[in-house]
Amino acid sequence: MRKLRLGVMISGGGTNLQALIDACQQHGYPAKIEVVISNRPDAKGLERARTAGLKAVAIDHKEYEERAAFEDAIHDCLTEHKVQLVCLAGFMRLLGADFVGRWKDRMINIHPSLLPSYKGLHTHARALEDGVKFAGCTIHYVRPEMDNGPIIMQAAIPIAPDETEESLIAKTLTYEHRMYPAAVRLIAEGNARVSGHKVVIKEDVALPATGLICPLP
Ligand code: GAR
Repeated sequence: MRKLRLGVMISGGGTNLQALIDACQQHGYPAKIEVVISNRPDAKGLERARTAGLKAVAIDHKEYEERAAFEDAIHDCLTEHKVQLVCLAGFMRLLGADFVGRWKDRMINIHPSLLPSYKGLHTHARALEDGVKFAGCTIHYVRPEMDNGPIIMQAAIPIAPDETEESLIAKTLTYEHRMYPAAVRLIAEGNARVSGHKVVIKEDVALPATGLICPLP
């Protein structure tokens, strides 16, 4: 089986990266990580990558006067490693339209909200403040507008009455870690296809039988 070649981009702890590392180590998983890039040299995720024996590269945005040069360096690194799919996993720099265009339909992102609600930062706190009954997380193809693009997979996460920001972040991450490897698998196996603003999932891929209601009636 020819595996899809991934480049994972991070800025921090890298728990989603770890979920991808673990998935790629499973027998028969259809993707492999070729390179991990962080814009922060001190990101814990770089250590995770090295521990797993992966190529880990710091491309520090502070060392570049212009964003275009920073993004060119990332692009060169990804192409050098023959990356076929870029996975943004807690990469916290906005990427310019040029870079995004070069990786159109070949770059995905994970975001801790049910997009298109709560783009940007502090998603959990804002959801709690609004009193919504479901939080969530989304994996989507990247477009130049922040946290926008064809949606591949989402989880709806009920908010408990005693929910705190910390508990919601932790709960959401457990879903993120399940979803990221699953979304990459969908793409690697050719079961997700971009069509206009949407992602079409092959008909024979399983769907939950019912919706979610919170609180339960
Ligand atoms: C994750 O919750 C991810 O969804 C979020 O950053 C966290 C990274 O955690 N990404 C964004 O907010 C992007 N807009 P991790 O480094 O432990 O994977």
